[in-house]
Amino acid sequence: MKNNGLTQVVTAVSLALAVVAGTAHAQDLPKLEKKDRYKVGFSQMESNNPWRIAETQSFVDTAESCNWDLISTDAAGSAAKQVADVDSMIAQGIDVLFLPPREEKPLIPAVMKAKAAGIPTFLVDRSVDPAVAQAGRDYVAFLGSDFIDQGRRVAEWTLENFKGEQGVIVELEGTTGSSPANDRRKGFDDVMAQHDNMTIVASQSGDFARDLGRQVMETLLQAHPDVNIVYAHNDEMAIGAIQALTLAGRKPGEDVLVVSIDGTRDALQAIIDGKMGVTVESSPFFGPVACDVMERYIAGEEIEPWVQVQDRIFTAENAADHIDEAY
Ligand code: AHR
Repeated sequence: MKNNGLTQVVTAVSLALAVVAGTAHAQDLPKLEKKDRYKVGFSQMESNNPWRIAETQSFVDTAESCNWDLISTDAAGSAAKQVADVDSMIAQGIDVLFLPPREEKPLIPAVMKAKAAGIPTFLVDRSVDPAVAQAGRDYVAFLGSDFIDQGRRVAEWTLENFKGEQGVIVELEGTTGSSPANDRRKGFDDVMAQHDNMTIVASQSGDFARDLGRQVMETLLQAHPDVNIVYAHNDEMAIGAIQALTLAGRKPGEDVLVVSIDGTRDALQAIIDGKMGVTVESSPFFGPVACDVMERYIAGEEIEPWVQVQDRIFTAENAADHIDEAY
């Protein structure tokens, strides 16, 4: 508490410097010349869930129509491998890099190496620590959702639809140190902190994975058998939690409200089946967005630092209308 004043001053000064630095160096970003075809690098972080697979497929599907020779890698859940994958793509002479950084800090060296190699880089779906690397200075732009708003929207829907009096909440967090885990937690927790009848009794990482989500839920259920709301940072962990709750004799959708983010096919089906309340969309379909922003960059347009994706919300009212387009 003693350092609060100093922290605020340091933060304000850092932000001011950051803004100045971002403006001063925007013109130094590597340019992209007009060519018939482009060697495009897409560095995927892992392929252990439908969201990641849909995102990679979106780049593959976009490649031909956007004149890309796509080099796609899979870091299999390792930030170190993702940095090495980017090194390898730089060595192969990519013209442009699309990078979903697994975690906020460990992927900064990859961003800086691409910049040093003269390769324009776009961060896709996740971001890096803005205190160190910034859009308009170290990379061109971030293409993605507002993760804080996603968490906030889940919280607001929960407040409107929870039938009990006292909410006993378990939160299943995404990958520790990743931007969606940090931001989805902030968005949800800040809203819930304003409501005395809502208590988050446990918050633990399930690494955005179904099986880990199930295991973490099993453990947390033993410590908190009175849980009546589960907030998962993605649908895969929500489905894992539903499995754990069911095995423990609980009735997801009846005595436990399960809420989440993404919009996968399994989540929409769980909503239709009455086992899940809501999923706020987080679109994985970045291929067309990447193509559009790259063409604008080639044409010399100034790219906004955050190319924001708009997300829908899926509930019992509309899940059946959208399940056929889900992944
Ligand atoms: O960065 C987006 C998140 O990452 C998605 O919610 C999740 O399913 C994925 O692994």
